[in-house]
Amino acid sequence: MTEPIIVINGTACPIAGEDRETLGDFLRAQGVNSVHLGCEHGVCGACNVLVDGACSRSCLMLAKACAGAEVRTIDGLHDELADALRDAFNRHHALQCGYCTPGVFAAAYELLCEGNALNETAVRERLAGSICRCTGYQGMVEAVLDVAARHAEPCPANVASID
Ligand code: FES
Ligand code: FES
Repeated sequence: MTEPIIVINGTACPIAGEDRETLGDFLRAQGVNSVHLGCEHGVCGACNVLVDGACSRSCLMLAKACAGAEVRTIDGLHDELADALRDAFNRHHALQCGYCTPGVFAAAYELLCEGNALNETAVRERLAGSICRCTGYQGMVEAVLDVAARHAEPCPANVASID
């Protein structure tokens, strides 16, 4: 029987292993160590990745249920918007230990991709799904607002098309 395929940061990978393996565990087993696992039950947002463009908790998804999907992680996002967000994170000191950063980045990227006008409340509401143990929220919000002020256009609906 042919193994199901998932596309990780542009590379097609067969999904072997246990049916019950989560997407987060699967990605880390593939060497995608930017996927961080914290609570492993959907609370902290550390494991957020983009699945077909939607910010998703990889600890709550089964890898095999993602057959055919396009997964992007922080290290697989290299378009203009992602580069601007990375730069803004640096300038606004939006990370300290960095454990929450890949998950926050996925949530922020999804929000910015929607191309809507943003204010502080809207950014805080979207980032509320991510817990930062270092409490670096202010810098994250400033970084997202900084990028939002320059990128008013929605992204393509599917991040698979960003390369
Ligand atoms: S590890 Fe997935 S939400 Fe915390
Ligand atoms: S920067 Fe340390 S957990 Fe967020």
